[in-house]
Amino acid sequence: MTELSAFIEGMPKAELHMHIEGSLEPELMFDLAARNEIELPFKSVEEVRAAYQFTELQDFLDIYYQGMNVLITEQDFYDLTWAYLTKIHAQNVIHTEIFFDPQGHTDRGIAFKTVIDGISRALKDGEEKLGITSGLIMCFLRHLSEESALETLESALDHKDQIIGVGLDSSELGFPPAGFQRAFEKAKSEGFLLVAHAGEEGPPDYVRDALDLLKIDRLDHGNRALEDDSLVDRLVSEQMALTVCPLSNYKLAGVTDMRQHPIAKMLDLGLKATVNSDDPAYFGGYMNENYLAITDSLGLSKDQILTLARNGFDASFCIQERKQAMQDQLDKYAAEYNVG
Ligand code: ADE
Ligand code: ZN
Repeated sequence: MTELSAFIEGMPKAELHMHIEGSLEPELMFDLAARNEIELPFKSVEEVRAAYQFTELQDFLDIYYQGMNVLITEQDFYDLTWAYLTKIHAQNVIHTEIFFDPQGHTDRGIAFKTVIDGISRALKDGEEKLGITSGLIMCFLRHLSEESALETLESALDHKDQIIGVGLDSSELGFPPAGFQRAFEKAKSEGFLLVAHAGEEGPPDYVRDALDLLKIDRLDHGNRALEDDSLVDRLVSEQMALTVCPLSNYKLAGVTDMRQHPIAKMLDLGLKATVNSDDPAYFGGYMNENYLAITDSLGLSKDQILTLARNGFDASFCIQERKQAMQDQLDKYAAEYNVG
């Protein structure tokens, strides 16, 4: 292991963009399929992994929605979340904000409460047993109607203490933010923080609309904002955080060569970029693998790596006291390496 990879692996980190259903490793998929007597269209774990070849977002989403069919009981959602938490604990992630897609489950007849109770119970154990603080963000699927999003929001009102925010994900092109303005207004009025995927595959206008129409507090991806200088200026002046997902961008072909990944340029422009795994079981890695990939391909320095980690804590939705404690932990770590 090089000194730089040891630095990344030991560094305290926050993850702000990770779909819990996207952390379903093929091994667990098989275990849950057996437990729930579900037949999978794959014969082996290797066959599942071999199917993970994507040329665009939709290719991935088709297989991602199919994968989640094995999640049935509260215990399944607990096991899924607990597996993710133990994995990131070993990678020195100390805070995580997790997305879940309730409509991906309620549309299959699974109760909202089953999903959220399983995830929340694991998150509580994660804090008590692993010291990982967390928040849960409920995403609306943008390929479904705004009425469906509003119904989902209604179900969430009984679980307000378990959810910190609302997001927007799934197929981006052809499903602009404007279609979800009412749902986001209502979510805001109910006190939820707001995020949305925009500029992953969609044009800069989708990013602008996520800011103006949805009034987001944080931007998920945002890569294509770089095509519009005035939009970049605005994101910089508003200090809007971007949850960038390097391996996801590569696997979904938004970036065809990791040496061309825009995250270093984002930092140079003054954008508040953060590093995240998106769907770690599908895209080849968790937080450390994402940091290592950009560090290797872009030749990032320890200072740049620290900036990305600091941005992660700063852009989190934690209370100020926790943010400060995490920044202090990072400062102490940097001092041990004589950087920062
Ligand atoms: N759902 C899970 N991962 C996603 C991604 N990268 N983009 C949009 N929707 C998603
Ligand atoms: Zn995502």
